Amino acid sequence: MLKTPDVLMVFCLVGATNALYKQWIPDTNYENKTNWDKGDVPCGNDIALFSVQRKTSAFVETTHAVREIRLPIDGEFILNSGAGFYVVNGQDPGCGAGVTAQFKDSESPQWFNPALWQTAATLNDLQNGDFLFSVHEESVPCQHDDVVFKALSSFSVDTGSIQSSIPVKSVSVLGKMFERKSEFYQYLNSHSGRLQFQASTAVTVGSPSCKDPTGCDCGNAVNHQQICSTVTCKSVSCKMPLLPVGHCCEMCGAVVTIHYAAGFNLQNYRERIRHLFLILPQYKSIQLGMSKVLKSQRLMWIIPFGTSPEIQVVILDGETGTLSEALAQDIVKDARSHGSKLGITDTEFQASSGSSSNQGGSSAGTVVGVVFAVLLVITLIVVPVVLIRMGVVQMPSMPSMPSMPSLRRFQRNTDVGDLGGTLDHGFDNPIFDKPGMLSDIPGLNETERNSIALTQTGVHFINPVYNENESDFTV
Ligand SMILES: *[C@@H]1O[C@H](CO)[C@@H](O)[C@H](O)[C@H]1NC(C)=O
Repeated sequence: MLKTPDVLMVFCLVGATNALYKQWIPDTNYENKTNWDKGDVPCGNDIALFSVQRKTSAFVETTHAVREIRLPIDGEFILNSGAGFYVVNGQDPGCGAGVTAQFKDSESPQWFNPALWQTAATLNDLQNGDFLFSVHEESVPCQHDDVVFKALSSFSVDTGSIQSSIPVKSVSVLGKMFERKSEFYQYLNSHSGRLQFQASTAVTVGSPSCKDPTGCDCGNAVNHQQICSTVTCKSVSCKMPLLPVGHCCEMCGAVVTIHYAAGFNLQNYRERIRHLFLILPQYKSIQLGMSKVLKSQRLMWIIPFGTSPEIQVVILDGETGTLSEALAQDIVKDARSHGSKLGITDTEFQASSGSSSNQGGSSAGTVVGVVFAVLLVITLIVVPVVLIRMGVVQMPSMPSMPSMPSLRRFQRNTDVGDLGGTLDHGFDNPIFDKPGMLSDIPGLNETERNSIALTQTGVHFINPVYNENESDFTV
């Protein structure tokens, strides 16, 4: 059922960069009806009104007839070549009785609002409207992303942040791409720049691209609060709603967790999943987001003690979640049978129906968890006792203590090596951490070596799947 052409395997051994493009949706274009309070662009009998206080940078693409334009104190029109305004002599026959149309002067929309961005893997995909789904944190530009403000368009964005700056790889404005810090700094201080980026926090370009083939952390965890403050969560009705890392809202669907080793390539794997599953008719309504996240590790689900990188696949179907669960199962099955070639060491999934990939179901998992919990508590109590006891053994005066025999018996029965072993297991969360996790740790170095070796090929990498798809689009 899940047979894979060998060609797909080959892609997974070749490196590619993991750049994503994030495009800002709102604009301040004269031609965009949604920017006018009457819902329509003013015509020859109308008065076009820009409120006095509003600092607007409005883009005008073509010529427009108006009766009158009232301009703000501080603003600009960016005129496309050939664009302009003219006044109609008498009445404009194609226009109504004449109204005063006001260019909307609401607040500038916020940079950290995930609903105002579109994500795509290539510029071509951006143009074709072939967007990727992401969790809320990653919908907003990440540190390695290329930010795009549409050409032939102006905008106004509120970049207010509690951070001192907003780092990204590059920013494109009006078709010009800024990659150098000083150049973009200059632009921000220009008249247009100050009208378009309206806040004290500077967007800085020049962050390195993601050179790790296994993917890079978005870096927006520090902005989680600000991002989520712009999101209104819908109520969910599934049995066990899931909260993926980096998402603001609980959701119905499935989350697949992939533990990887050297040789894993995120972008190729994303393509593989698209090619194997997402193009299938039954998965047409699926939204799938895949990224590297840093999941915080917790001792007994409570005490945080660090983070571990893993690939998170978030699957939504806009309905009950059964379709998501089916896809999650397909992905796990595929990863388990081809994992060694893909650089995948272990895969699990959680579905909002309550089922998961843990064999024996969640109740068995809970039992294991409780057993480990009990063992850990026993260990935590016993270890200090034994340690004290061991110290006591070296002191010649202690053997006269009455409690001595029982303690000695205990010490003999409990192998110290075993205790050490138990402790180690105790730190691994028995439900969420599979044994494969441990083998990941030495693998980290390998991954880095690998990324360096792969970078060169990555530059010249042409993804045949994409080309195929692109030609599909043009045909
Ligand atoms: C007009 O603006 C709205 C909201 O900002 C945006 O969603 C839409 O794509 C714009 N329309 C065009 C034609 O660009």
